[in-house]
Amino acid sequence: MKKIIIANWKMNPGTLIEAKELFDSLKEISREFRETEIIICAPFVWLENFSSQGGLKRGLSLGGQNCHWESHGAFTGEISASMLADLKAGYVIIGHSERRQYLGENDLIINAKIKAALKAKIKPIVCVGERQNEEMHLVVEDQIRSALNGIPAAQLKEIVIAYEPVWAIGPGDPCSPDNALSANLFIKKVLTKLYNRAGAEKTAIVYGGSVDRKNAADYLSRSQMAGLLIGGASLDAQEFGEIIKSVGNI
Ligand code: 13P
Repeated sequence: MKKIIIANWKMNPGTLIEAKELFDSLKEISREFRETEIIICAPFVWLENFSSQGGLKRGLSLGGQNCHWESHGAFTGEISASMLADLKAGYVIIGHSERRQYLGENDLIINAKIKAALKAKIKPIVCVGERQNEEMHLVVEDQIRSALNGIPAAQLKEIVIAYEPVWAIGPGDPCSPDNALSANLFIKKVLTKLYNRAGAEKTAIVYGGSVDRKNAADYLSRSQMAGLLIGGASLDAQEFGEIIKSVGNI
């Protein structure tokens, strides 16, 4: 499996000019590291600009940060998975903890969005993870069961699961590589229980939360993650480049 490095820009940077500059730098970086799949999840409004200028090459994809569960209709302010596909996005982040917290996303909605993404042939990056003082096993198993409800085993290879402990996001404490390894093995165990071993092996599991150039390689080697979901550090082209370099030979 190719390593997957996902940049979640969230609602950043401020202007198209800055966004374009950042995208162009990340594009340059991706040219050097073809063994790594780099996915830029930028705000919707810039995706067309990035894809229309021949910006997408092998190893560099675009992603949305959310989509609606219907393909079209009276949902003011929303964007569907098929619209994202139309903009050449290959991925979409679903169920990020910030949307669960601030925008009322629940497990039912997340499940419907995953199904909508798969129907539009976009790979969902499904975020799971416990909050401070919550028990990882209970929360993560519950979130995965609900998220994948009704999704057949054959589609597991189209799904990325991002383990993002909420307490490790942003300026929080990074999760230790050993804890990330436990979560990774646990997620595989849950997938094996819900489907089978082959299905679990086909699902890419990535880590997110305070990733930087110093800890990135450990999450791939010690935690055996298939990749990383990066917030803050993906807004700094130099830092992001160092992260890609550090995981390049793993
Ligand atoms: P940070 O890398 O800024 O901790 O953000 C992680 C995240 O939320 C990515 O989705």
